[in-house]
Amino acid sequence: MRGNLQSFLKRAEKAAEKIRTWLSEGEFIDTFTHNDADALASAGIIGASLRREDGRFRIRSLNRIDDFIELYNQGMVEARCIIFTDTGSGTLPELTSLLKDKSVVILDHHEPSEATVPADWVHVNPHIDGFDGAREISASGVTYFTCRALNRANVELSAIAVVGALGDLQDKNSQRRLHGLNELIVSDAVENNLLEVKDDIILYGRTFRPLHVALASTTSPYIPGLSGNEQASFQFLRDIQIPLKDGEQWRTLSDLSEEEKKKLYNGLIEYLVSKGLPSGIADELVGKTYDLTREAVWTYLRDAREYATLLNACGKSGKGWLGVLVAMGARSEVLDEAQRVLEEYRLSIAKAMDYVAQPGVLEELNHIIVLKGGEVIDFRQVSSIASVLSSSGLLQRDKPLVALANAGKVVKVSARASKYLVDQGLNLGVIASKLGAVHGGKGGGHDIAAGAEIPADRMIKFLADFDRAVGESLAKPSHKVAD
Ligand code: C5P
Ligand code: C5P
Repeated sequence: MRGNLQSFLKRAEKAAEKIRTWLSEGEFIDTFTHNDADALASAGIIGASLRREDGRFRIRSLNRIDDFIELYNQGMVEARCIIFTDTGSGTLPELTSLLKDKSVVILDHHEPSEATVPADWVHVNPHIDGFDGAREISASGVTYFTCRALNRANVELSAIAVVGALGDLQDKNSQRRLHGLNELIVSDAVENNLLEVKDDIILYGRTFRPLHVALASTTSPYIPGLSGNEQASFQFLRDIQIPLKDGEQWRTLSDLSEEEKKKLYNGLIEYLVSKGLPSGIADELVGKTYDLTREAVWTYLRDAREYATLLNACGKSGKGWLGVLVAMGARSEVLDEAQRVLEEYRLSIAKAMDYVAQPGVLEELNHIIVLKGGEVIDFRQVSSIASVLSSSGLLQRDKPLVALANAGKVVKVSARASKYLVDQGLNLGVIASKLGAVHGGKGGGHDIAAGAEIPADRMIKFLADFDRAVGESLAKPSHKVAD
């Protein structure tokens, strides 16, 4: 690890100290979070920690930081003490001028827009201490370290931080494993018997779902023709002669012998090649699996990646509160409802992927590929579609994806680059942030994944500038080294 761990932990300790003071003074704590899996996991961690201290608090999940500004301007943010998770670092100038009289803790992993914050604020962010917030730790990790400093018993929440990091795809490296500060969190969870880490094929529902259903349920990576299609997955497994039943019982991935797993892996490579897709997608199906040992084997919460998909589904269906409750530990009816939302979300993603396959929906410019989601793709889900599509091998690796969906007067933009392009020096977050401001909207994010909200009447110009900025960035000599 290249960052300064002591300094990072000291910052988390300072944030914990601030929260402790608020609690001892009986303050009401207003918490705001983003709406993706990492954000809802962060909110679950802070919520469970404040509940443990008998704190008075409320958690609200936001589609974008502008929603917070709107709430504030409507007088709906009355508390003096505010926590931001998975948001805040990218909009420090606006927040500091708006919240001058507030006491604020920011627990985020986005590139900070400023180096300093007001005296009564604490800002915990891995970038400040030299860590990579896109790959080594996410917002739920930052929140976890803060809550662990607040009360050692919060080690119990380490597995939720692992869920958050996986939700932000921080395992998207050649080994498909978490590393950096995330690895310290994994160690906490394993040492406390909360998590089981194994090497395996990464299919959703490895231990309990019939093999063909597990294959069809897996969307990271997205295997065109098989993901979202149980019938095609069933046929594929029959074609490669893997028995799907043992007597009357459906077989699961964990029932397969090592020989059969190799057959499955090789079969997938042949399948991808036969479809003209990069065989490297199959490598993304092999890596570390993270199982939450306290969750029932047959629920969507046992496998940390699937847990993250469930949280994401809640957030991107406008039900962030449901995801936060699950992450805080609510089960029974709450979990039933969240699982139902996940099923609906899967159908909606499958429908969107069918739409993407239609002629004219993807448009290739000089340096970028544009996905024109219009009104067909839900603006809350365009970021998931962008992530799924960019993991599918359907796009060229040398052009980033810029996905669009209409959201009233603005267009929601979600951009994704391949690791190859990031190694060439491309930083989508920098481009989105700069062009967002230039075109009267807002943008930001990480090198590999960024987003923006742009006034609809500025879209043509925005896209032309984005295309040019990517071209210029890639024309420059790169100093980045692949890992
Ligand atoms: O707001 P935040 O930083 O948490 O979101 C990061 C987003 O970037 C997530 O939606 C995640 O799925 C996406 N991502 C991606 N590909 C990567 C890394 C992150 O699509 N390799
Ligand atoms: O919305 P989407 O998942 O595509 O965003 C990708 C990344 O860009 C996320 O980390 C998100 O928080 C960030 N983003 C941002 N500012 C925006 C929109 C997105 O920092 N205006």
